[in-house]
Amino acid sequence: MNLGITQLSPVIGAEVNGVDITKPLENDAFAAVHQALLDHIILVFRDQPLDDDALMALGRRFSTLVIHPFIMPNTDRPEIVAIMRDPGDTTIVGEDWHSDTTHIATPPMGAVLHAIDVPPRGGDTIFASQYAAYEALSDGMKKMLAGLNAVHDDTHVAGPKSGKNNTRANKVRDGANWRPTSNVHPVVRTHPETGRKCLFVNRSYSHRFENMTEAESEPLLSFLLEHGNRPEFTCRVRWTPGTTVIWDNRCMKHIAVNDVTEHRRVMRRVQMTGDKPF
Ligand SMILES: [Fe+2]
Repeated sequence: MNLGITQLSPVIGAEVNGVDITKPLENDAFAAVHQALLDHIILVFRDQPLDDDALMALGRRFSTLVIHPFIMPNTDRPEIVAIMRDPGDTTIVGEDWHSDTTHIATPPMGAVLHAIDVPPRGGDTIFASQYAAYEALSDGMKKMLAGLNAVHDDTHVAGPKSGKNNTRANKVRDGANWRPTSNVHPVVRTHPETGRKCLFVNRSYSHRFENMTEAESEPLLSFLLEHGNRPEFTCRVRWTPGTTVIWDNRCMKHIAVNDVTEHRRVMRRVQMTGDKPF
């Protein structure tokens, strides 16, 4: 099956047409979408409204679905999170550069995010290829990073110290509902399907290197975090109602641009189970 592919930038992102994602994907259609995801990291589908059943069915084509560990359930399906901002919210989900949910032992392999109600302008999402970020490093830096691990934890994005619940519609577990979770992942991971290496640290979850303090980690970690966001590694997606993005969470960081104040934004998301990074 041939998809219509329009690349969004040289290294990441493609708009896809020629496939109906509102219906269960047949094997040949799924194979084409899956290969396109491996090739382009994020796929954008326009004007295909998905109901909750279709959203879950699409995610399940890739893997079992994740029940998010700390975002408070806010739909009648535990696998679906409504990503929302209300007028007046000052913070939003995903407003720092991050890969999703990397504090768990097996971070999601990907996600499907579907737009229902979006502001007339703003509220875009920017995605950055972490293959491109890794490949742009010098040989000396690549050698230094080989074998280095980072500790990922959820203390900045959930729990009582995060302060998220006072400033936005999406609520996270805190108080007695929350226990900090941390796991160690390689700073450079190998994608289990493409075999390509990519940077795997992010601002929301990676706060230090293994066996090092935050202060000791900070100079190199800061460099890697900023380097991974360089504009030449990115593409930007403008949302419209009925837009769906499927992303590969293993080789990509993204940021929700917090540039809207007065408008509501309503999206629905599922996450697909991933493997232990290596
Ligand atoms: Fe995210």
